[in-house]
Amino acid sequence: MNTLPSQINQRFAQDVEEGLSLQLKKLPSKYFYDKKGDELFVKIMHCEEYYPTDCELEILKEQSIQIIEACELPKDRVNVIELGAGDGLKTRELLKVLVQQHIETRYRPVDKSANAVEGLVSKLKKEIPQVETSGQVGDYFEILNQVNARSERSKLILFLGSTIGNMMDEVAQGFVRAIAENMKEDDRLLIGFDLKKEPDIVRAAYNDQQGFTRAFNMNLLERINHELGGNFDLNKFKHYPVYNPQTGTAKSYLISLCDQEVYIEALQKTFQFEAWESIHTEISQKYSKSRVEAIARASGLQIERTFSDQRAYFADVLFKKSST
Ligand code: AVI
Repeated sequence: MNTLPSQINQRFAQDVEEGLSLQLKKLPSKYFYDKKGDELFVKIMHCEEYYPTDCELEILKEQSIQIIEACELPKDRVNVIELGAGDGLKTRELLKVLVQQHIETRYRPVDKSANAVEGLVSKLKKEIPQVETSGQVGDYFEILNQVNARSERSKLILFLGSTIGNMMDEVAQGFVRAIAENMKEDDRLLIGFDLKKEPDIVRAAYNDQQGFTRAFNMNLLERINHELGGNFDLNKFKHYPVYNPQTGTAKSYLISLCDQEVYIEALQKTFQFEAWESIHTEISQKYSKSRVEAIARASGLQIERTFSDQRAYFADVLFKKSST
């Protein structure tokens, strides 16, 4: 039995209680990302089957000049705001081109993880000192508002890595609409979308041979054990990813291998699992061209240009405010 930590993340406890009390059990994927989850995600990004990171890096390495040109930045000055910046590896390619083109650049990476932001800011200050970098930890929307209030410069907002795909449809739509409401005429938004493709390629990306994705998914149960005093036996659950080529939705589940009960001390509650009952843990949406267009239309945005990798697996789509 795990002992309870002195401080309990109440929000986490509440979400776990809600999710495991549903008839169709679920847990939010945002809880994948503790220290261990962050490390596993880095391993996933480097493994052979997980193509999205390489594809987007290829786009930014080879087409950053075209992306900057398509932004038509007025007055050669820009604020680049990155929502969910992570390690910022791909964005560096874009920043280097801005410097080469003598565009005065302020870069503001925003992330919920203080660790990620601090690491990125200190690295960039050394690597690209010409860019004025200052990170911010916190809520994406609040930060967008602050930046609007403070600066007359046009903004390039980045939301890369197909993080949008981890949001349910209505949430993703609402998120893009909220960003669009914060944009002025000269502002641009670049979103990374993972595209529909050969279904077996998608399935393999969420079931890598080395088992990193399995461990990433299982880490949710480990977190509940460590942080909420749960007694999940990881050997009694199976990582099960599926892909529906019709909807373009990849989903991950944890499946109970037998009838069992799990006690969670922080909730003082026991949860029953029947054999083969599932917990839905993540959605990773793959997009068609028409779906991206629909998101733009519903948000009052128009597509300026789409940048794809050579295999057309991934697209960084540049949006501006719709003129109509
Ligand atoms: C962060 N996000 C875009 C990843 C994805 O592809 O949905 C998270 C991930 N889940 C399993 N592998 C990677």
